[in-house]
Amino acid sequence: MNQKRIVIAGGSGFIGRVLAEEFSARNFEVIILTRAPHGRADGIREVAWNGKKLGGWVQFVDGAEAVINLAGKNINCPHTPKNVFKITASRVDSVNAIADALAQVKVPPRVWVQASAVGFYGDTGNHIRDENFPSGENTLAEICRQWEAAFDSTTVPQTRKVVLRIGFVLGRDGGALPLLSRLAKFYLGGAAGSGRQYISWIHLADLVQMFVTVVKRETLAGTFNAVAPGAVTNAEFMGELRRVLDRPWSPPAPEFAVRLGAWLFNFEPSLALVSQRCSADKFLEVDFQFQFPQLRAALENLCPKKNASPAHPP
Ligand SMILES: NC(=O)c1ccc[n+]([C@@H]2O[C@H](COP(=O)([O-])OP(=O)(O)OC[C@H]3O[C@@H](n4cnc5c(N)ncnc54)[C@H](OP(=O)(O)O)[C@@H]3O)[C@@H](O)[C@H]2O)c1
Repeated sequence: MNQKRIVIAGGSGFIGRVLAEEFSARNFEVIILTRAPHGRADGIREVAWNGKKLGGWVQFVDGAEAVINLAGKNINCPHTPKNVFKITASRVDSVNAIADALAQVKVPPRVWVQASAVGFYGDTGNHIRDENFPSGENTLAEICRQWEAAFDSTTVPQTRKVVLRIGFVLGRDGGALPLLSRLAKFYLGGAAGSGRQYISWIHLADLVQMFVTVVKRETLAGTFNAVAPGAVTNAEFMGELRRVLDRPWSPPAPEFAVRLGAWLFNFEPSLALVSQRCSADKFLEVDFQFQFPQLRAALENLCPKKNASPAHPP
């Protein structure tokens, strides 16, 4: 039997690399759309696109089982007007390019899974946000609103559409966890700002299974928060991280110190200071089985003690 094909736009990044390997291990033909294709020896194929316009890549979308879109300029840079424009445009353009491709092909994919982020809800404070809440007010919310609006406005009658609003992804080889771990090891792993802002995190292994679930289950459509059930405050998160790394105490980092560090090291301070407390109920209601529903187990898995072999690969 022919292999089913998955096309992953932006599949060269932190999430996409692991997702591509998972689908490949499940015997899918995996095509990564990237601006800088490399030859690979693992059976996964990288195909050139520019994230904006139609090109030879469209032939791979024709007849694919699924297209997954992760493409977009990384948000971990200062949110200057110029960067915000690039962050937004790279997302909206890639959505539009995929929509144009779907309109051209003979056999459109059965499902299109589009990444978004829990930043959609803005600063949630202590309030829990499920998928029915409207978008919030800050810069990230505005970016996500435009990103999702572009996706919502696509007309693809033969294709099931799913949005995953992804939380703070915890993985060993990318995202912010390796940096936070290094800081914690140097006794710089204190709570950031008030420490009361929530973090809706997710272990990369669970996120990957969420993508697999929405691709496979024909009944799932619409928007899902892709977060673990146990959102924690920043103080709780940093406390657990220090505990796992045997650093019981670190001085807290008040807001001005976070802003100064962000200025010195060229990152966006709001990513550490804004509260994102989101519900995982929608995935729980469809009986999604979290491998890492609790933060402690997730961190122990990703930050194993020296000499201990990791329990899980990501
Ligand atoms: N990681 C998280 O914690 C997290 C949380 C919430 C949402 N998300 C969303 O999930 C998606 C994947 O996240 P990630 O952490 O895997 O991101 P990533 O490592 O930055 O990968 C994103 C990919 O997008 C492509 N890309 C970058 N700039 C682009 C541009 N200007 N035009 C077109 N493509 C561009 C890159 O591929 P090439 O350079 O190969 O073209 C890159 O590999 C992103 O959209 C992100 O916003 C991630």
